[in-house]
Amino acid sequence: MSNLWQHIWEKRSLQPQHAITLDTLIALDGFDSGAGKISLADWQEYTRRISDKLGMQSGHSVFEVGCGAGAFLYALRQQHTLTVGGLDYAAGLIDAAQQAMPDGDFKAQSAHTMATDPQYDFVIANSVFHYFDEAMAAEVLNAMWQKANVGVAVLDIPHAATKDACERARRDALTEAEYEEKYRGLHHTYFNPDWFTKQLPGHPHQIFESCVPNYAQSQYRFSVIFHKRLHG
Ligand SMILES: C[S@@+](CC[C@H](N)C(=O)[O-])C[C@H]1O[C@@H](n2cnc3c(N)ncnc32)[C@H](O)[C@@H]1O
Repeated sequence: MSNLWQHIWEKRSLQPQHAITLDTLIALDGFDSGAGKISLADWQEYTRRISDKLGMQSGHSVFEVGCGAGAFLYALRQQHTLTVGGLDYAAGLIDAAQQAMPDGDFKAQSAHTMATDPQYDFVIANSVFHYFDEAMAAEVLNAMWQKANVGVAVLDIPHAATKDACERARRDALTEAEYEEKYRGLHHTYFNPDWFTKQLPGHPHQIFESCVPNYAQSQYRFSVIFHKRLHG
Protein backbone atom coordinates (compact mmCIF):
# COMPACT_ATOMS: atom_id res chain seq x y z
CA MET A 1 0.00 0.00 0.00
CA SER A 2 1.01 3.64 -0.19
CA ASN A 3 4.36 4.41 1.38
CA LEU A 4 3.07 7.96 1.86
CA TRP A 5 1.39 6.70 5.02
CA GLN A 6 4.68 5.17 6.15
CA HIS A 7 6.37 8.52 5.61
CA ILE A 8 3.73 10.24 7.77
CA TRP A 9 4.04 7.75 10.65
CA GLU A 10 7.81 7.82 10.50
CA LYS A 11 7.81 11.53 11.33
CA ARG A 12 6.44 10.83 14.79
CA SER A 13 8.64 10.26 17.82
CA LEU A 14 8.96 11.04 21.50
CA GLN A 15 10.32 14.58 21.98
CA PRO A 16 12.55 15.62 24.91
CA GLN A 17 9.69 17.67 26.42
CA HIS A 18 7.36 14.63 26.42
CA ALA A 19 6.79 12.74 29.64
CA ILE A 20 6.04 9.08 29.07
CA THR A 21 2.37 8.94 30.02
CA LEU A 22 -0.59 7.17 28.47
CA ASP A 23 -1.78 10.58 27.20
CA THR A 24 1.50 11.07 25.31
CA LEU A 25 1.33 7.59 23.77
CA ILE A 26 -2.29 8.10 22.66
CA ALA A 27 -1.30 11.37 20.96
CA LEU A 28 1.75 9.82 19.27
CA ASP A 29 -0.49 7.04 17.95
CA GLY A 30 -2.66 9.62 16.18
CA PHE A 31 -5.75 9.71 18.41
CA ASP A 32 -5.20 13.33 19.37
CA SER A 33 -7.12 15.35 16.79
CA GLY A 34 -10.12 15.65 14.51
CA ALA A 35 -12.41 12.67 13.94
CA GLY A 36 -9.80 10.29 15.36
CA LYS A 37 -9.63 11.95 18.79
CA ILE A 38 -10.05 9.68 21.83
CA SER A 39 -9.79 10.98 25.41
CA LEU A 40 -7.70 9.30 28.08
CA ALA A 41 -10.76 8.07 30.00
CA ASP A 42 -12.41 6.76 26.80
CA TRP A 43 -9.19 4.99 25.79
CA GLN A 44 -9.00 3.31 29.20
CA GLU A 45 -12.64 2.23 28.94
CA TYR A 46 -12.12 0.97 25.38
CA THR A 47 -9.09 -1.16 26.26
CA ARG A 48 -10.98 -2.50 29.31
CA ARG A 49 -13.88 -3.56 27.09
CA ILE A 50 -11.55 -5.36 24.67
CA SER A 51 -9.63 -7.02 27.48
CA ASP A 52 -12.96 -8.32 28.92
CA LYS A 53 -14.08 -9.64 25.52
CA LEU A 54 -10.78 -11.49 25.15
CA GLY A 55 -10.80 -12.82 28.72
CA MET A 56 -7.40 -11.27 29.37
CA GLN A 57 -5.87 -11.84 32.79
CA SER A 58 -2.64 -11.14 34.60
CA GLY A 59 0.02 -13.58 33.44
CA HIS A 60 -1.07 -13.48 29.79
CA SER A 61 1.19 -12.32 26.96
CA VAL A 62 0.04 -9.91 24.25
CA PHE A 63 1.64 -8.99 20.92
CA GLU A 64 0.43 -5.99 18.92
CA VAL A 65 0.86 -5.58 15.16
CA GLY A 66 1.28 -1.90 14.25
CA CYS A 67 1.57 -1.00 17.93
CA GLY A 68 2.90 2.50 17.29
CA ALA A 69 4.08 4.07 20.55
CA GLY A 70 2.24 1.32 22.44
CA ALA A 71 -0.81 3.20 23.77
CA PHE A 72 -3.01 0.10 23.58
CA LEU A 73 -0.54 -2.22 25.34
CA TYR A 74 0.36 0.42 27.93
CA ALA A 75 -3.32 0.83 28.88
CA LEU A 76 -3.78 -2.96 29.06
CA ARG A 77 -0.79 -3.12 31.40
CA GLN A 78 -2.48 -0.65 33.73
CA GLN A 79 -5.19 -3.31 34.16
CA HIS A 80 -3.19 -6.56 34.22
CA THR A 81 0.37 -7.77 34.62
CA LEU A 82 1.21 -8.75 31.05
CA THR A 83 4.23 -9.73 29.00
CA VAL A 84 4.13 -7.57 25.87
CA GLY A 85 5.68 -7.29 22.44
CA GLY A 86 4.95 -5.46 19.25
CA LEU A 87 6.07 -4.27 15.86
CA ASP A 88 5.60 -1.13 13.82
CA TYR A 89 7.29 0.20 10.70
CA ALA A 90 7.80 3.61 12.33
CA ALA A 91 11.10 3.41 14.22
CA GLY A 92 10.45 6.58 16.29
CA LEU A 93 7.18 5.13 17.58
CA ILE A 94 8.77 1.76 18.37
CA ASP A 95 11.46 3.57 20.29
CA ALA A 96 8.74 5.33 22.35
CA ALA A 97 7.02 1.98 23.05
CA GLN A 98 10.31 0.46 24.16
CA GLN A 99 10.98 3.38 26.50
CA ALA A 100 7.45 3.19 27.92
CA MET A 101 7.64 -0.60 28.43
CA PRO A 102 11.36 -1.42 28.83
CA ASP A 103 10.72 -5.14 29.45
CA GLY A 104 8.66 -5.47 26.24
CA ASP A 105 10.03 -6.88 22.99
CA PHE A 106 9.52 -4.22 20.30
CA LYS A 107 10.78 -4.27 16.73
CA ALA A 108 10.73 -1.75 13.88
CA GLN A 109 9.54 -3.75 10.87
CA SER A 110 6.61 -4.00 8.50
CA ALA A 111 3.69 -6.18 9.54
CA HIS A 112 4.02 -8.60 6.63
CA THR A 113 7.51 -9.62 7.85
CA MET A 114 6.27 -10.63 11.33
CA ALA A 115 7.74 -13.86 12.70
CA THR A 116 5.14 -16.34 13.94
CA ASP A 117 7.57 -17.43 16.66
CA PRO A 118 7.57 -16.85 19.59
CA GLN A 119 3.88 -17.31 20.23
CA TYR A 120 1.87 -14.96 22.47
CA ASP A 121 -1.49 -15.68 24.13
CA PHE A 122 -3.15 -12.82 22.26
CA VAL A 123 -2.14 -11.18 19.00
CA ILE A 124 -3.97 -7.93 18.33
CA ALA A 125 -4.04 -5.09 15.79
CA ASN A 126 -5.87 -1.85 16.60
CA SER A 127 -6.66 0.69 13.92
CA VAL A 128 -4.07 -0.68 11.49
CA PHE A 129 -5.64 -2.99 8.90
CA HIS A 130 -6.86 -0.05 6.76
CA TYR A 131 -3.22 0.65 5.88
CA PHE A 132 -2.93 -2.81 4.25
CA ASP A 133 -4.27 -3.85 0.87
CA GLU A 134 -6.35 -7.03 0.91
CA ALA A 135 -3.49 -9.34 -0.07
CA MET A 136 -1.30 -8.03 2.72
CA ALA A 137 -4.18 -8.08 5.21
CA ALA A 138 -4.75 -11.77 4.42
CA GLU A 139 -1.07 -12.54 4.91
CA VAL A 140 -0.89 -10.63 8.22
CA LEU A 141 -4.13 -12.13 9.57
CA ASN A 142 -2.83 -15.61 8.83
CA ALA A 143 0.46 -14.91 10.57
CA MET A 144 -1.40 -13.45 13.58
CA TRP A 145 -3.43 -16.65 13.79
CA GLN A 146 -0.28 -18.79 13.78
CA LYS A 147 1.42 -16.58 16.35
CA ALA A 148 -1.53 -16.63 18.79
CA ASN A 149 -2.08 -19.23 21.45
CA VAL A 150 -5.49 -18.11 22.69
CA GLY A 151 -7.00 -15.42 20.49
CA VAL A 152 -6.64 -12.83 17.75
CA ALA A 153 -8.28 -9.40 17.73
CA VAL A 154 -8.43 -7.06 14.73
CA LEU A 155 -9.96 -3.84 15.98
CA ASP A 156 -11.24 -0.54 14.56
CA ILE A 157 -11.59 -1.68 10.94
CA PRO A 158 -13.31 0.60 8.38
CA HIS A 159 -16.59 -1.04 7.28
CA ALA A 160 -17.01 -1.29 3.51
CA ALA A 161 -20.74 -0.55 3.78
CA THR A 162 -19.97 2.87 5.26
CA LYS A 163 -17.18 3.88 2.87
CA ASP A 164 -19.11 6.63 1.04
CA ALA A 165 -20.54 8.14 4.23
CA CYS A 166 -17.16 7.99 5.96
CA GLU A 167 -15.30 9.69 3.12
CA ARG A 168 -18.05 12.27 2.71
CA ALA A 169 -17.80 13.17 6.42
CA ARG A 170 -14.03 13.51 6.15
CA ARG A 171 -14.40 15.69 3.06
CA ASP A 172 -17.16 17.84 4.63
CA ALA A 173 -14.94 18.66 7.60
CA LEU A 174 -12.43 20.40 5.29
CA THR A 175 -12.45 22.71 2.28
CA GLU A 176 -11.78 21.03 -1.07
CA ALA A 177 -8.26 22.50 -1.08
CA GLU A 178 -7.51 21.36 2.48
CA TYR A 179 -8.84 17.91 1.69
CA GLU A 180 -6.65 17.61 -1.41
CA GLU A 181 -3.64 18.84 0.54
CA LYS A 182 -4.18 16.51 3.50
CA TYR A 183 -5.32 13.32 1.79
CA ARG A 184 -3.84 13.39 -1.73
CA GLY A 185 -2.61 9.89 -2.51
CA LEU A 186 -3.60 8.61 0.94
CA HIS A 187 -6.06 5.75 0.90
CA HIS A 188 -7.70 3.54 3.45
CA THR A 189 -8.87 -0.01 2.73
CA TYR A 190 -12.44 -0.79 3.78
CA PHE A 191 -13.47 -4.36 4.64
CA ASN A 192 -16.61 -6.44 4.91
CA PRO A 193 -16.85 -8.43 8.15
CA ASP A 194 -17.30 -11.68 6.20
CA TRP A 195 -13.95 -11.11 4.48
CA PHE A 196 -12.39 -11.92 7.87
CA THR A 197 -14.43 -15.04 8.50
CA LYS A 198 -13.58 -16.31 5.01
CA GLN A 199 -9.87 -16.00 5.82
CA LEU A 200 -10.16 -18.11 8.97
CA PRO A 201 -13.19 -20.31 8.31
CA GLY A 202 -14.74 -22.49 10.98
CA HIS A 203 -13.21 -20.80 14.02
CA PRO A 204 -15.28 -19.34 16.86
CA HIS A 205 -15.43 -15.57 16.47
CA GLN A 206 -17.24 -12.40 17.49
CA ILE A 207 -17.86 -9.45 15.19
CA PHE A 208 -19.02 -6.24 16.84
CA GLU A 209 -19.37 -2.52 16.20
CA SER A 210 -16.60 -0.29 17.40
CA CYS A 211 -16.83 0.00 21.19
CA VAL A 212 -14.74 3.13 21.72
CA PRO A 213 -16.90 5.57 23.71
CA ASN A 214 -17.41 9.03 22.14
CA TYR A 215 -15.33 8.26 19.02
CA ALA A 216 -16.48 10.01 15.85
CA GLN A 217 -15.22 7.09 13.72
CA SER A 218 -17.28 4.48 15.64
CA GLN A 219 -20.16 4.56 13.18
CA TYR A 220 -17.79 3.55 10.35
CA ARG A 221 -15.79 0.87 12.14
CA PHE A 222 -16.14 -2.73 13.32
CA SER A 223 -13.93 -5.26 15.09
CA VAL A 224 -13.43 -9.00 14.96
CA ILE A 225 -12.11 -11.43 17.55
CA PHE A 226 -11.19 -15.06 16.80
CA HIS A 227 -10.88 -17.55 19.61
CA LYS A 228 -8.23 -20.16 19.07
CA ARG A 229 -9.00 -22.08 22.19
CA LEU A 230 -10.98 -21.35 25.32
CA HIS A 231 -8.88 -19.38 27.75
CA GLY A 232 -8.82 -20.41 31.35
C1 LIG B 1 -3.56 4.73 14.08
S1 LIG B 1 -1.97 4.11 14.54
C2 LIG B 1 -2.44 2.91 15.78
C3 LIG B 1 -1.31 2.56 16.71
C4 LIG B 1 -1.66 1.53 17.80
N1 LIG B 1 -2.11 0.30 17.20
C5 LIG B 1 -2.68 2.04 18.76
O1 LIG B 1 -3.80 1.54 18.76
O2 LIG B 1 -2.39 2.95 19.54
C6 LIG B 1 -1.55 3.10 13.13
C7 LIG B 1 -0.18 2.47 13.23
O3 LIG B 1 -0.03 1.50 12.21
C8 LIG B 1 1.32 1.50 11.80
N2 LIG B 1 1.41 0.81 10.49
C9 LIG B 1 0.69 1.07 9.37
N3 LIG B 1 1.05 0.21 8.39
C10 LIG B 1 1.99 -0.62 8.90
C11 LIG B 1 2.75 -1.72 8.38
N4 LIG B 1 2.61 -2.12 7.11
N5 LIG B 1 3.63 -2.34 9.19
C12 LIG B 1 3.81 -1.92 10.47
N6 LIG B 1 3.13 -0.88 11.02
C13 LIG B 1 2.21 -0.24 10.24
C14 LIG B 1 1.67 2.99 11.79
O4 LIG B 1 3.06 3.22 11.79
C15 LIG B 1 0.98 3.45 13.07
O5 LIG B 1 1.82 3.36 14.19
